[in-house]
Amino acid sequence: MLSHIKDLAANLAPRLIEIRRHIHSHPELSGQEYQTAAYVAGVMSSCGLQVQELVGKTGVVAEMHGTGADTRMLAIRADMDALPIHERTGLEFASRNQGIMHACGHDVHTTVGLGTAMILAQLGVPLPGTVRFLFQPAEETAQGAGWMVRDGVMAGVTSIFSVHAFPTIAAGSVGIRYGALTAAADDLELIVIGESGHGARPHEAIDAIWIASQIITTLQQAISRTQNPLRPVVLTIGQIQGGRAPNIIADQVRMLGTVRSLHPETSAALPEWIEQIVSSICQTYGAKYELNYRRGVPSVQNDPTLTQLVESAASEAWGSDRVQILLEPSLGAEDFSLYLDHAPGTMFRLGVAAADKPNFPLHHPQFHVDEGAIITGVVTMAYAAYKYWQQ
Ligand code: NI
Repeated sequence: MLSHIKDLAANLAPRLIEIRRHIHSHPELSGQEYQTAAYVAGVMSSCGLQVQELVGKTGVVAEMHGTGADTRMLAIRADMDALPIHERTGLEFASRNQGIMHACGHDVHTTVGLGTAMILAQLGVPLPGTVRFLFQPAEETAQGAGWMVRDGVMAGVTSIFSVHAFPTIAAGSVGIRYGALTAAADDLELIVIGESGHGARPHEAIDAIWIASQIITTLQQAISRTQNPLRPVVLTIGQIQGGRAPNIIADQVRMLGTVRSLHPETSAALPEWIEQIVSSICQTYGAKYELNYRRGVPSVQNDPTLTQLVESAASEAWGSDRVQILLEPSLGAEDFSLYLDHAPGTMFRLGVAAADKPNFPLHHPQFHVDEGAIITGVVTMAYAAYKYWQQ
């Protein structure tokens, strides 16, 4: 079956590159993926799949029904949105939409999803169960997965696979990560409310700037002294505003930050931990505060059994020297985690680095991929989806 899948992929290669280039040159921002979604729906319909559009706002869901001998349902998820970046790759199929670019490889993910459907549709033998393809909008804003889940796309799903391009792995190879793949990412807004006064008479005022600086310093020190160092927490205050003049004590400071962590128990405890520190400092110095802690996406925790399945599919397909076991997670975020609240799943890293030219990081205006990676992704995904039913 593997060599059959590889032959089908080789035959489809020119078509898949054409699809990827079309999507690449017509990027759309998060939540506005109307053209991309219509294009995806068209390709899926032409594979004979039952397609639903405008799911999760601008998402597409397509189902491939098997014989029904197996009641499980496998979902395969791809994201379709692009970024507000002005492309500088110089490619002939570069973005035609000014200021918008597929700089995170979602054009490749969408193509891998479509290619996997094409291959499974051409296998010649029906699968025993249903495969549901999810093409989600708005991954970059961490909204799309939530929209899709709210529209019920995980109903009946037993397991879910996904893929993300990775520019530090050579095209032709894949990266496999057991356990935490990405971090939980939350947003923090903190307003410290003091009392204004003359800069010369601090004892008559409550200095919100000084108290804010105590809070920032204490939070950073407290991470190293009170959090388990084997369970990383990163807290970054990226924005701070306050004060009106050099000789007026500021009565208010507003800080915005991001909070990242890998372990679910740590993530769960963070809001209260932060509030304790903030409230004790404010109380000590007579300030008030407002703390808004907004939960973002949880950490992506790859399921061990499904990860093993994808690893073995990739090793059989490409040889174990082209399968890297990733020893470290990333503190980036991925809304794929929201599907994992409903069913176990795994996301693999798809190497996209070109051997013959400089490579650039994700979200860079010169980010590019070696298109050979598309076949690696499609074969790995299709074969893993085939093997899923053999377990
Ligand atoms: Ni991405």
